[in-house]
Amino acid sequence: MKKIKVRISGNFVRSYDIIIGITLNQIARYIFKKFSERKIFILTDNNVEKLYGKKFADYFIKIGAKVSLLSFKAGEKSKTRNMKEVLEDKLISYGANRTSLILALGGGVVGDLAGFIAATLFRGIPYIQVPTTLLSQVDSSVGGKVGVDHPYGKNLIGAFYPPEDVLIDTSVLRTLTRINYLNGLAEVIKYGAILDPELFRLLESNSKLLMKPSSAILKNIISRCCQLKAKVVSKDEKENSYRRILNFGHTIGHAIELLSDYKIPHGFAIATGMAVEADFSVKLGLLQKNEFDRIKNLLSTFGFKTNLPRKYSMNDYLRAIQVDKKSSDYGINFTLLRKIGKAEINFQLNEQDLETLLMFYDLR
Ligand SMILES: NC(=O)c1ccc[n+]([C@@H]2O[C@H](COP(=O)([O-])OP(=O)(O)OC[C@H]3O[C@@H](n4cnc5c(N)ncnc54)[C@H](O)[C@@H]3O)[C@@H](O)[C@H]2O)c1
Ligand SMILES: [Zn+2]
Repeated sequence: MKKIKVRISGNFVRSYDIIIGITLNQIARYIFKKFSERKIFILTDNNVEKLYGKKFADYFIKIGAKVSLLSFKAGEKSKTRNMKEVLEDKLISYGANRTSLILALGGGVVGDLAGFIAATLFRGIPYIQVPTTLLSQVDSSVGGKVGVDHPYGKNLIGAFYPPEDVLIDTSVLRTLTRINYLNGLAEVIKYGAILDPELFRLLESNSKLLMKPSSAILKNIISRCCQLKAKVVSKDEKENSYRRILNFGHTIGHAIELLSDYKIPHGFAIATGMAVEADFSVKLGLLQKNEFDRIKNLLSTFGFKTNLPRKYSMNDYLRAIQVDKKSSDYGINFTLLRKIGKAEINFQLNEQDLETLLMFYDLR
């Protein structure tokens, strides 16, 4: 079991623990010990409910905790204001009050939605993240960003609301689909590329083992990623500047997601985004070609595409890149690489620069 402390300084200091390598049964005991008086509401989606939710609720019942299990239909389509209301109505009718505790058991959708509900219900009640996808274990459960989507864009409505704890059972990853596993692995590669050359090497030398979500080294890797994210959000919770380091691959990645009408999953889009943005870094004289090759090779090993989809034209890309909320009056904001493990934030590229860089991609 590994424990990582996230310490966020601001007007006042807040902190929470991330515990990795704890089982769902142990999680129930840990929570009961820490919050024994509180009524517990487990929020989850219908897939996770079947796989782990009922079992998880039973662990609480066995030790005498007051617990209710609430679920909603799995998928991004449920991350809405409407679903927030539906669940709030249920919580209130089931007797939730200011002393209740919410547990978010599931992937990033559950975590973002349940966390946002916790942020506003009774002006804020405590919640705990129990992430069950690789993406949520290394990324969305840490950092306190919670929220829902809007027809105009993803995550447009939300808050910064840190959890009480993040409790991670890595054994639940075994049941992930290949796509959901790879979605998270792309973010893992990102951490190596921007912050941690050691991690990057570890991924290179264990790529075969990492093809499956059951690898024993995964626990160490997840813990490393949580440490890195915790460090970033401790320095800059509200993404005023340094947290933008996590956007590597995401400016181009979001454009690909948007153009594909979200048919290309996030991790796959940002994997291509990382290859393209690493290539931009080489073309701008920041990164050496051999480092770019290592990034491209690692991404390809896991089957990620490293070239821009040719289906879309130069204009499609230019438009889609500018839709992204990372564009400012000065240009479009990129996080680029100087080395594997060393990124540079706040690189502003204007439309002309981008067109020149994209010219190499032989687009329509
Ligand atoms: N808050 C943040 O900082 C942050 C960061 C990154 C992403 N996100 C958000 O996270 C969401 C994506 O997260 P996600 O990829 O976890 O998606 P998700 O929550 O939709 O989970 C993906 C699928 O996996 C299933 N699942 C979950 N755990 C499982 C398990 N152990 N075994 C089998 N199936 C399982 C789910 O039911 C779902 O069908 C997006 O909404 C994104 O905006 C938030
Ligand atoms: Zn991402």
